[in-house]
Amino acid sequence: MTRKKPYHSEVIDHLRRVISNIQVAIGNGQKSILITSAVAGEGKTFVACNLAAMLADGGKDTLLIDFNQHNPGVHTYFDLSNTNGISDYLTRDIPYSNTVTQGRYRLGLITSGSWRVNFNTLLDSARCRELLADAKEEYDYIIIDTPAIAEAADGLILARYVDTSIFVVQAGRPDLKETIQSKEALARVNPHILGVIVNKAG
Ligand SMILES: Nc1ncnc2c1ncn2[C@@H]1O[C@H](COP(=O)(O)OP(=O)(O)OP(=O)(O)O)[C@@H](O)[C@H]1O
Ligand SMILES: [Mg+2]
Repeated sequence: MTRKKPYHSEVIDHLRRVISNIQVAIGNGQKSILITSAVAGEGKTFVACNLAAMLADGGKDTLLIDFNQHNPGVHTYFDLSNTNGISDYLTRDIPYSNTVTQGRYRLGLITSGSWRVNFNTLLDSARCRELLADAKEEYDYIIIDTPAIAEAADGLILARYVDTSIFVVQAGRPDLKETIQSKEALARVNPHILGVIVNKAG
């Protein structure tokens, strides 16, 4: 497995600070972390992949799950096949471990998978909650990549089942109305927002 893009120097310091905050959060038993943003393309996948890789390289068993069926990206970042992933787990009677690709060192990866049907109804299910609960038994951290809040309800559905979240904002966005509304919507379903990453700054 190769990593195509992680470790862009301009975000590394910012991510290190985020990781420090996460280490404080885990003191409170917070392990599953959802990454979202207001609109598409603000850098959720970039942040999720870098964060997961850094946590794993730091010695933590980390599982990265691509829950973005609209524009899946984790398999591209890590040069993986996307034929068996989270949508396959949610639509077939297989254990979630069958969909995990072992990345280097302590990083487990679940790509978005091959199915594209009624994804948000599959998210609001006992099977999805079970996956997140079981993964917490096996991993130190679960990083969850999602579509933008303005694009799909998926992130807000999943936010109810995770411990905490990181809200990514692209620096210099001219209209912050959607950003403010999306962050408020996120806080309503999960008030434990770990932090905001201002991405692509500088
Ligand atoms: N901090 C950064 N520095 C350099 N390039 C970045 C940074 N963050 C994101 N990018 C690039 O910007 C593009 C969009 O990022 P990314 O795919 O992570 O966004 P996204 O929020 O996941 O998009 P989507 O909503 O479509 O899933 C990608 O080409 C990515 O490599
Ligand atoms: Mg993405």
